[in-house]
Amino acid sequence: MLQDTRRTDVGPGIGVRPVYSRAPRNTHGAEPMNETLILLAHPALEKSRINRQLADAVRNLEGTTFHDLYEAYPDFDVDVRREQQLLEEHDLVVLQHPFFWYSTPPLIKQWEDLVLEHGWAYGLQGTALRGKRLLSAITTGGREDAYRPDGHNRFTIRQLLAPIEQTFALCGMEYLPPFVVHGALGMTDEEIRGHARDYRRSLEALRDGSLDLEAAGRQPRLNLRLDELIRDGEEDG
Ligand SMILES: Cc1cc2nc3c(=O)[nH]c(=O)nc-3n(C[C@H](O)[C@H](O)[C@H](O)COP(=O)(O)O)c2cc1C
Repeated sequence: MLQDTRRTDVGPGIGVRPVYSRAPRNTHGAEPMNETLILLAHPALEKSRINRQLADAVRNLEGTTFHDLYEAYPDFDVDVRREQQLLEEHDLVVLQHPFFWYSTPPLIKQWEDLVLEHGWAYGLQGTALRGKRLLSAITTGGREDAYRPDGHNRFTIRQLLAPIEQTFALCGMEYLPPFVVHGALGMTDEEIRGHARDYRRSLEALRDGSLDLEAAGRQPRLNLRLDELIRDGEEDG
């Protein structure tokens, strides 16, 4: 389902009838809030423990459009113009998915292959995504210590995410340190709720410009020492 919480007016058609509601603007008066597009890709969300709760924590976040790719395209028949228009309308793109074979679920690959067209996303005339930012938000079965050179998976998460980082870097996008929930298997409900809260706080802080991106860039993942990264340290809801 596509939920756009950004406006009450009906904008240019994107092929569906999303629920629109106007997001409040930044009350500090300076910069307008960033518009965030969350692209969720989970092939079996009904069986998910973690991604479902992460998604529930952010799907109605103000200034955010929530887009469930497997729900929109169960047959992988991606509407390229609609997806490109959504990308054009947002500053921050979040790719949320479980880590599958050190990569994304296949629909994200299909989406990339079709949507990131030459002459639009890259190439001489392909400037549509320049200056935007991309955040990977992933969950892994493997524990954090398994993603080390001397660990079970031999590579760090950041190394394994390099194809995504470089794909969007080629399109002129800034790749943020990923939001990673490790050790998905056997996690308690309380731990999952904690990660869902952190996810919401991270996206709120990115939207509001209150997350210290320079400090975050020195960390392996965004959701490490989050209290130190978020300037006002306030939590919403
Ligand atoms: C097909 C498949 C491949 C997977 N590959 C990996 C992997 O490469 N690394 C890893 O840490 N976990 C892997 N897992 C575990 C999932 O990442 C984990 O089940 C998921 O993040 C849990 O999230 P959920 O509760 O939202 O489904 C894999 C799971 C499946 C079903």
